[in-house]
Amino acid sequence: MKIQGSHYRTIWPASGAADAHLSSGVRVIDQTRLPFTFITADLFSMNDAAHAIRAMIVRGAPLIGATAAYGLALGLRADASDAGLAAAAATLKAARPTAVNLAWAVDRVSAKVATLPVDDRAAAAWAEAAAIADADVEQCRAIGQHGLGIIKALAAKAGKSGKPLNILTHCNAGWLACVDWGTALAPIYMAFDAGVPVHVWVDETRPRNQGASLTAYELGAHGVPHTVIADNTGGLLMQRGEVDMAIVGSDRTVANGDVCNKVGTYLKALAAHDNGVPFYVALPSSTIDFEMQAGSLIPIEERDARELTHMSGRTEQGTLETVRIVPEGSPALNPAFDVTPARLVTGLITERGVCAASRAGLRSLFPEMLAAAE
Ligand code: MRU
Repeated sequence: MKIQGSHYRTIWPASGAADAHLSSGVRVIDQTRLPFTFITADLFSMNDAAHAIRAMIVRGAPLIGATAAYGLALGLRADASDAGLAAAAATLKAARPTAVNLAWAVDRVSAKVATLPVDDRAAAAWAEAAAIADADVEQCRAIGQHGLGIIKALAAKAGKSGKPLNILTHCNAGWLACVDWGTALAPIYMAFDAGVPVHVWVDETRPRNQGASLTAYELGAHGVPHTVIADNTGGLLMQRGEVDMAIVGSDRTVANGDVCNKVGTYLKALAAHDNGVPFYVALPSSTIDFEMQAGSLIPIEERDARELTHMSGRTEQGTLETVRIVPEGSPALNPAFDVTPARLVTGLITERGVCAASRAGLRSLFPEMLAAAE
């Protein structure tokens, strides 16, 4: 994606040298500073990568996976022994529990290097991390193409004579959450670029405001018309007929089609169901946990209550400040994700096409992956 005329991915080797795995680190966009400041951060070690994931300098399921993959390569640079590999993998996997892309990427890199001589492991891991990042870009591009078909069909059906198709999204499932393009936002970018009139309702996504801070930033940079709404506004807009479809991303979708995503997604899906609004989930296969049988088994991350009791933003004077919004002494609870039952999902938009959110639907697109887990 382009920021002020320059093309960016969200993660890239800090040096383009062929032997970059020997000395340089990996560079990421510091998402804790957006939307007000665009700065990058360099990760030089496995611990840097684990910290970046924990502190949400990088976030979003696919980007967490790519960062963990590079993090493992950086860990092997310091200690490529079997014990070093196991310790680095364990530290990275523990960084955040919900997005399955993290464990998927760590396992994929581990499997690639485990049988290699110790001296070859770091370079092989670095190459595998780069392959994971490149594959994510292509998968998101394909998701965009498949989702574009849905948007075009809905726009034709709505026959709004030039009026935009109103699409609601929750959290940030754009290019900032992936390596490029995004999942839920990729079809929107492609529709916009193809001249389909679209307008996006952006849920602010309390408590960390990924919608207000990141999705609005992305859409604005691309010129896509959008409006930020409070998290509780979507239901009203659906009742008024002002939402034509919803598209969200996912952090883990399981074998029966249950979808885990940013907390609040479930309520949007319920409202969409009640109002006959199509509710799509866009995700790459790296986000599908074929081994887990039901959404109730997904570990839900519980984050620091301070994310809820405090808010940060830019003052009129241009300084960044954090203020408390909850009375001293009031406890706060901050689960970061929820699970939307498969029955509320109209379809899963994947890199291989669109399918029902069900075991049969997943089998129709990913037979070999489902079979391997059975
Ligand atoms: O806590 P976050 O910001 O990592 O949560 C991100 C989300 O919930 C996204 O919707 C999800 O990862 C899909 S990203 C393509």
